[in-house]
Amino acid sequence: MCSEALISPALDWPAVRDLPLRLGILASGNGSNFAAIAQAIDQGQLCAQIQGVIYNNPQARVAQRAAERGLPSVLINHRDFGGRETFDATVAATLRGWDVDWVIMAGWMRCATPVLLDAFPGHILNIHPSLLPSFPGLHAVEQALRAGVTITGCTVHIVTLAVDQGPIIAQAAVPIFGGDTPDTLARRIHTQEHQLYPWAIALAAGRA
Ligand code: GRF
Repeated sequence: MCSEALISPALDWPAVRDLPLRLGILASGNGSNFAAIAQAIDQGQLCAQIQGVIYNNPQARVAQRAAERGLPSVLINHRDFGGRETFDATVAATLRGWDVDWVIMAGWMRCATPVLLDAFPGHILNIHPSLLPSFPGLHAVEQALRAGVTITGCTVHIVTLAVDQGPIIAQAAVPIFGGDTPDTLARRIHTQEHQLYPWAIALAAGRA
């Protein structure tokens, strides 16, 4: 009998610090990772508070999820800006206004420019649905299926200018079963992401 995940993190929660981390969430879509982080906070696992959520797509379900939790959310639509730098400047200013100390990309479909990176040096995290450095970029789940690997997973890493190449904080491995489709595999990876991301935030902050 195969298990859903070959290697799950031990989930020993590191003692972070007395003051809660102040998180700013960037999300473009569904927001299930946002919800998992919020739940880990509610359950007292992750010592943090979510200062606000920025989304760039008017249809993003994450806005509804934030409203359900009574958390502020702001639409900053990249289509309203002349360039990536001016967009990132507005994102950074909003995060600064919330006095955020960690920026959490949770399905944020924009590449960060130096404007955002320099505003929060070393304090921007992303989650990617593969075991980096394998399968960076778009359609990571499909890439893994096409490559015929038997194990994939998810990675939390620090965001740098090189997309999906920043220092790795934590990973979880997910086996690929015969008959897996992009949907079935993505679902199992998502389940691991939801456990991994809150823990990886604590781990990254404990190291900082
Ligand atoms: C996740 O699979 C994550 O790895 C990728 O985008 C997806 C976001 O999912 N970066 P959700 O919006 O959190 O449900």
